[in-house]
Amino acid sequence: MTLNTTPETTSGERIEELQQMAGDHMFMHAAQINDWRGNLKVYVKGDGVWVETLDGQRHLDAMAGLWYKSAGYGRTEIADAVYAQMTAIDSPPAGSSTIPQIELSGKVAELYPDHGARSFFVSGGSEAVETAVKMAKKYSQLNGKGGAFKVVSRRYSYHGGTAMSVSLGRSPAADPMGPEMPGALHVTNWNSYRLPFDGDPVDVAVKCADEMEEVIIHQGPETVAAIIAEPVSAAFGIQIPPAEYWHRLREIADKHKVVLIADEVITGFGRLGEWFGPTNWGIQPDITTVAKAITSGYAPLGAAIATKRIADAFIGGPDETFRHLITFGGHPIASAAALANLRIFEREDLVGNSKRMGTYLFEQLQGLYNRKIVGDVRGGLGLLAAVELVADRDSKTAFPPSAGLAKKLPKMLFDRDIISFRAGDVISICPPLCISKDEIDFIISAIDGALEELENDLGF
Ligand SMILES: Cc1ncc(COP(=O)(O)O)c(C=O)c1O
Repeated sequence: MTLNTTPETTSGERIEELQQMAGDHMFMHAAQINDWRGNLKVYVKGDGVWVETLDGQRHLDAMAGLWYKSAGYGRTEIADAVYAQMTAIDSPPAGSSTIPQIELSGKVAELYPDHGARSFFVSGGSEAVETAVKMAKKYSQLNGKGGAFKVVSRRYSYHGGTAMSVSLGRSPAADPMGPEMPGALHVTNWNSYRLPFDGDPVDVAVKCADEMEEVIIHQGPETVAAIIAEPVSAAFGIQIPPAEYWHRLREIADKHKVVLIADEVITGFGRLGEWFGPTNWGIQPDITTVAKAITSGYAPLGAAIATKRIADAFIGGPDETFRHLITFGGHPIASAAALANLRIFEREDLVGNSKRMGTYLFEQLQGLYNRKIVGDVRGGLGLLAAVELVADRDSKTAFPPSAGLAKKLPKMLFDRDIISFRAGDVISICPPLCISKDEIDFIISAIDGALEELENDLGF
């Protein structure tokens, strides 16, 4: 067995050897081994929105990795920054810091609406959520709510794969976990296409938020530490609420002295056309969780960003100390990658491009209504959009699992050089923020072609 990592190696024999090794020894995350064994896609190069396989095929990554490759592929200046930090000092002695970690905390505060913000750096999104919830509980205890341990979240959200974060969303990732975290309370999630209640959409959105208050009052406000929600739920099919929803969440959190956590692991750093999503609605959460785009996936990093008001509660003596530790949280290498990544964001105005291209993408997606199976197109707030497919547009009837959308569509799109591996009832579109109009046109034309093939396949 040779362990050759040279990207240029492309011989058939070498490819077979790698497939065999992966098939025998690897888990892919959240995937059935039989579904990929023997035909695992292996990428060796990337440039902008494009990636190239071991055998030289080029594909446009319409999912930006797993919602994170915001600066795009092939940014060698991030590699240079990582190399420079790695060769200077890779990680500091315990209880000390490094220049990139400090500068990153300053840069995040500069970009965040509350410039007095303080960041707790971790290694990814789930850890950011764990940290934010723990911080909210401790903050509540320090502020006269000694017994506050409950957290209100929305059904069908996704907040991570670790034991506590998975309890907040009840997603399929909760599969073997058994009982949830004590105090995990769930309310109705916002769904603009299938309104959860009858009525005007804005009234319904406010009613969804009102449920949070009902639960808080029913449980006793003194027992509830936090509300957590994604500004736009990607897990629930790119659900964009009206502004009134987040205004109501803010109001409820203030009234009952509950910490409002915005889970921006997907939406943070420009995805919704602003550096931070709730800025679209003029809302300042108390804690924001970020990961993914903070480094564009060049290194693993996440953060719980606390406003100055929250963070200042932890300044004092031993009782006020936030006793939370993640060994590699905010690793200097990842912090250097984040700083270089955010320099690219600023230099190339990627957040502005997200807004402009997001509007263009949403306009172009409207043409897909020509396909009978397109029930809803969502987007228009930065570069996060979705096309929802239905068996019947009038009744909004979903396709039965037997239609096999989740197997057929990713392949139909892939045959048109588009990576959208999660496509099924909902095709999510989340490209790198550096995408151009021509590349958006390429995505639209591929989706249209795939939907035509699917309609023929299903006999429409
Ligand atoms: C909103 C949200 N929160 C948390 C997470 C967990 O992040 P990670 O997979 O980096 O642990 C995710 C992952 O996709 C997410 O979408």
